[in-house]
Amino acid sequence: MRDAFLSELTEGECLALPFLFEFWAMEHQLPPEGDWRAWVIMGGRGAGKTRAGAEWVRACVEGALPLSPGRCKRVALVGETLDQVREVMVFGESGLLACSPPDRRPEWQATRRCLVWPNGAEAMVFSAHDPEALRGPQFDAAWVDELAKWKKARETWDMLQFALRLGERPQVCVTTTPRNVGVLKELLALESTVVTRAKTEANRANLAASFLEEVRARYGNTRLARQELDGVLVSGASLGCGRGALDGGDAGPGAGHAGARTL
Ligand SMILES: Nc1ncnc2c1ncn2[C@@H]1O[C@H](COP(=O)(O)OP(=O)(O)OP(=O)(O)O)[C@@H](O)[C@H]1O
Ligand SMILES: [Mg+2]
Repeated sequence: MRDAFLSELTEGECLALPFLFEFWAMEHQLPPEGDWRAWVIMGGRGAGKTRAGAEWVRACVEGALPLSPGRCKRVALVGETLDQVREVMVFGESGLLACSPPDRRPEWQATRRCLVWPNGAEAMVFSAHDPEALRGPQFDAAWVDELAKWKKARETWDMLQFALRLGERPQVCVTTTPRNVGVLKELLALESTVVTRAKTEANRANLAASFLEEVRARYGNTRLARQELDGVLVSGASLGCGRGALDGGDAGPGAGHAGARTL
């Protein structure tokens, strides 16, 4: 059936196929329907979170043709440090440049710390170390990577909310491994937030088999594994090391995603 399908495609369609993310995406990587303001993709390490964020930005800014306008024109890309935004969200293996087709690939303008698409859409880069940089500009979309590990998460998240005010329905996509931090728990509790979840294993096809075997064997059913591999928000003490990391832990009341719709 696959061969029959492929043989019917024109050369142009064959070239476009690798970039048709709807075709390749896993369920947790596709944006939920509806009128949400924030979409949180919460998953284990390597579950495909960053790729899903980059593809969502593509879907927001790209139009039907390379030069035609998309739904969004001004996007904020926010990560823990500027280097991480550049190395992961822009230039990384799962980042925006790698997943864009050649005719729609944005150009990186280093001096402006900005990506510019052929249709004029722009994505500006921000670091969670400098929340004040989000005073001034305004956006119709934002992609936030690894919110739960930012040091100034609260300040940066708040500044971003004030800047997310262009267009009819500004939205933010948050791609993160869960951690028991207030800003994430509050976001998950909002009615306007939707969540998709995945364990690391969901992306087994794109990860080395030895990696999964090794980490599952080593971390088994520990609290650290629940957070880092199952993508579950584990409440309680630090998971970095020590006994807490080795107990099987559960997401307690603090893990709340009471308000958010889980898909
Ligand atoms: N739907 C997909 N089709 C093909 N490859 C994919 C897909 N989703 C993710 N990948 C690939 O799987 C690998 C891991 O994905 P990604 O970097 O998005 O994971 P992550 O959850 O952000 O990882 P980390 O926890 O380390 O941040 C990357 O090489 C990425 O390009
Ligand atoms: Mg990632």
